[in-house]
Amino acid sequence: MLKHLTIFSLLALMSSCASTDKPEDKLSGSVDSLLSLMTLEEKIGQLSLYTSDWDVTGPTMREGYKEDIRKGRVGAIFNAFTAKYTRELQQLAVEQTRLKIPLLFGYDVVHGHRTIFPIPLGQAASWDMEAIERADRIAAEEASAEGIHWTFAPMVDIARDPRWGRMAEGSGEDTYLGSQIAAARVRGFQGKGYGDVGAVLACVKHFAAYGAPQAGREYHSVDMSERMFRDVYLPPYAAAVKAGSATVMSSFNDYDGVPATASEYLLNEVLRKELKFDGFVVSDYTSVMELIPHGVAADTASAAALALTAGLDMDMQAGFYQDALPRLVKEGKIKESLIDQSVRRILRKKFELGLFKDPYRFSDTQREQSTVMKPEFLEAARDMSRKSIVLLKNEGGDKAILPLSKNVKQLAVIGPLANARRDMIGSWSAAGDWKKSVTLLEGIKAAVSPATKVSYAKGCSITGDSTQYLAEAIRLARQADVVVLAVGEGGLMTGEAASRTSLDLPGIQQRLVEEIQKTGKPVVVVLMNGRPLTITWINDHAPAILETWYLGTQAGHAIADVLFGDYNPSGKLPVTFPRVVGQVPIYYSMKNTGRPLEVNNKYTSKYIDEVNTPLYPFGYGLSYTTFSYEAPVLSSNTMTSRDTLDVSVKITNSGSKEGVEVVQLYVKDEVGSVTRPVMELKGFQKVSLKPGESKEIHFRLCNSDLSFYRKDMTFGSEPGKFRVFAGGNSRDVKQAEFELK
Ligand code: GLC
Repeated sequence: MLKHLTIFSLLALMSSCASTDKPEDKLSGSVDSLLSLMTLEEKIGQLSLYTSDWDVTGPTMREGYKEDIRKGRVGAIFNAFTAKYTRELQQLAVEQTRLKIPLLFGYDVVHGHRTIFPIPLGQAASWDMEAIERADRIAAEEASAEGIHWTFAPMVDIARDPRWGRMAEGSGEDTYLGSQIAAARVRGFQGKGYGDVGAVLACVKHFAAYGAPQAGREYHSVDMSERMFRDVYLPPYAAAVKAGSATVMSSFNDYDGVPATASEYLLNEVLRKELKFDGFVVSDYTSVMELIPHGVAADTASAAALALTAGLDMDMQAGFYQDALPRLVKEGKIKESLIDQSVRRILRKKFELGLFKDPYRFSDTQREQSTVMKPEFLEAARDMSRKSIVLLKNEGGDKAILPLSKNVKQLAVIGPLANARRDMIGSWSAAGDWKKSVTLLEGIKAAVSPATKVSYAKGCSITGDSTQYLAEAIRLARQADVVVLAVGEGGLMTGEAASRTSLDLPGIQQRLVEEIQKTGKPVVVVLMNGRPLTITWINDHAPAILETWYLGTQAGHAIADVLFGDYNPSGKLPVTFPRVVGQVPIYYSMKNTGRPLEVNNKYTSKYIDEVNTPLYPFGYGLSYTTFSYEAPVLSSNTMTSRDTLDVSVKITNSGSKEGVEVVQLYVKDEVGSVTRPVMELKGFQKVSLKPGESKEIHFRLCNSDLSFYRKDMTFGSEPGKFRVFAGGNSRDVKQAEFELK
């Protein structure tokens, strides 16, 4: 035990002898100095991460994690929060272990910590990078004020199969949008840079291609061509690494037959060599252990050796590094230098967070009390929630049912999600206090005039077939002037381990909708869901439909803001809505095939029982006003790979209300050495327009926008004809052409 010199002063002394005073070298000096003092067991302790018992986010718990801390057998704890509790655990490490190395505290702060923002799929529907970055900045402020150093976010897995429940946690189907959001979220979490006490380490996940499990079934195998991986799934991870994500989490799935957690190709080749990632890689929950059921490891020792050799630095919750590495080193099967390499990567982050200077700097109850759920955070959440809402239907032009009047006499609020407090914060809602979330019923009551009579009936449960509440709902609907009907999935029916084989409304909700429709009253359907749902009947019968995802703490107020026109909806779908689950996977950037659809030609690519088109296309969303587009104007009809091409799009607010539109720019490569998608998003801009106002929106295309993995797997463009599309979604577009010389 070090008697007089504490480890910190010893390190200061040793690192002051570092070769140069460049911060980088000094830091390396400190890390190497500390490493030189560590025993093999202490090193392996730094490679182990265990959950506390404050939250459950996986299949196993760790009895005696406090003892692990005392014995230096663990370097990081997750699912522990509050300044008080993290301080208590930190004391065990810093006061009771030989080298007093501080713990790292991680948590799934995915869409807010205490103030909960819309689920990430909902935030993606805002197409608002500033708002998304701000949401995660606030999440980081709150989390770091509760002792958390590290969030297991952003999740950037591209997802094109809504049967997979974790589509809710990401940014949807598109590579370009997903990459922009990935970078914005890393900036949000890491702020001015980790080391700032209001920032947390980001952890881009799940590397890689976890969003493409076979049949949308959770944890299922992933198999795709390297071209598909590199063109579609890899870029968002790359964008997050480029934005400086401090850490990466390996995914549960195998890729090309090798579990990501033990994939030298993914972790060393792609992540470290190609993407120049220099942080540390943590496994997903027990995924080192899962190499055994994957069938690539026969026992603990081979699983640990495979993962460490592949570049997996930290073992989350399996305890396989702790159990097997000492012996593997002693038997000469694993070099200690490999362990040193991973320990260095982890210690660097602890130094960069300032934990060796002050291990308790994040565990400050004063800061916690003054930071958590500040009014401006709640206002930001309401703003983000409003921006996430997508208006899917509002028929009738000037006579449309929305926006509603606040002076409506009788308003019936019906449905199992109309007053569902817990569901508002959705899955992965960290330490969010659901008891503080605002329900739709409360939001409506707060918005309408005192003269309005608001009635409420559940109508039915989210799941189950009981019809006992139906009659009351029908009765209230009959008495009302207008009905707001909230249906969808339970807040935990998406997220991890929540795949579904159907995308229909669960339970008897469809029956509820039909019964309310039969009353003949004007109905606004408010959807609450974490994935696209097959709501074709609702689309055919309801006059108005709002997609509201799970909007978080301020859900009710945000939906009311849109319902009553205090906010003109501007959201656009980040995922395609199928008509039926049999169309899945369905997404806008499909291939044309050799027999593209000809409706009257049997021998073309189609179904015999359903059309090819989705119910709602990617990028779709309406407004209380209308926008008209002119065809894109190009600065030239040719360009070379060395220059750029300017595209301007004139858009006009042709309606009667001020509104915000997301102008989208798509590109199609007409002929390539391999088949190319019918179009790909290459730019978007949000623009606000007053009634009658027009604006020119400018985009600049460069060679990288036209580049892809060619037949020989080199990345680049190919000369030939291209089409440019511009519009308010991926279907209703105007176009122009140019040639790449
Ligand atoms: C879970 C999730 C991962 C999460 C981790 C820790 O299984 O797959 O996204 O960060 O475990 O909770």
